[in-house]
Amino acid sequence: MKKRILTGIKPTGLAHIGNYFGAIKPAIELSKNNEYDSFYFIADYHALTTLENKEQMQEYFFNIACTWLACGLDPNKVVFYKQSDVPEVFELNWILCNVTPKGLMNRAHAYKAIVEKNEELGQDKDFSVNMGLYNYPILMAADILLFGSNLVPVGLDQKQHIEIARDIANYFNNKYGKVFVEPDCYIQESTAVLVGLDGRKMSKSYGNTIQLFSSEEVLRKTINKIVTDSKLPGEPKPLNCTLNKLYKLFGSEEQCKEFEEKLLNGLSWGEAKKELFNVANEYIKPMREKYFYYQDHKEEVINILTQGAQKARIIAKEYLQKVRTAIGANI
Ligand code: TRP
Repeated sequence: MKKRILTGIKPTGLAHIGNYFGAIKPAIELSKNNEYDSFYFIADYHALTTLENKEQMQEYFFNIACTWLACGLDPNKVVFYKQSDVPEVFELNWILCNVTPKGLMNRAHAYKAIVEKNEELGQDKDFSVNMGLYNYPILMAADILLFGSNLVPVGLDQKQHIEIARDIANYFNNKYGKVFVEPDCYIQESTAVLVGLDGRKMSKSYGNTIQLFSSEEVLRKTINKIVTDSKLPGEPKPLNCTLNKLYKLFGSEEQCKEFEEKLLNGLSWGEAKKELFNVANEYIKPMREKYFYYQDHKEEVINILTQGAQKARIIAKEYLQKVRTAIGANI
């Protein structure tokens, strides 16, 4: 049997270029590797911990689906589905709750961070924590283990969650016999941290991102906001500047070399921003067109996901039967 790769995409906002280079692009490249069968899904029930209302859920969900299709996900090659369309995940989630020590959840980074903040503020340590947030890693383990996933492409921030999924697989296997595959995570170190407009890591929480799909005008304006130093036109610019780091993502080897020479020869920051805009815009344009095509063809997108869920459920049901048999639920 081919090895399986699986990853979840949380619909909690619009994709920025950090998401694209750090997660979307490598995951799509990986999905083209014929050694693997790939499963990519939109983790809508994981997003419940952060989304505020129904409208937000629908908007982010649809945008993220269009984004992945526009970036080149091929639904004939990848089983592409919506988590909540596969109810087997939630049955497995419950079963896994019963082999997961509570202490393991206490150590999860996201939960720990909230507890620490609450303690600092002198509040109850569990203030604002609901069970969805607390059990988040178990649901994630269910996503992964239900498909016998071998490899899980994720950002560095998700590494602990994959380790937790391994631990849970182990607890189950030790108790009931080997049913689950222990998954490994797949992190692209080189692009795992991408620089943002202000020179810090690009992250939604810093408000320093460049949105992947916006109009050309918005892209230009965003690039113009990149923070530079006060070096004047004619003065050489440092090659480790934010503009050069971003340029490298989009430019060919030759373009990058030329750009660096210009920087060293005193290209003004204004001109450098124009060049970055041009190279980024060229790169993004074909994907942007597809993105707006899918935005206008909602039914097509929903159809793709419905078919994906049908394929996913064939595998999920079979796997869940093995689990049910192992725990004695099938008599
Ligand atoms: N927690 C992941 C994130 O925030 C999304 C996710 C949910 C996921 N289930 C998954 C990722 C399973 C990999 C595998 O990005």
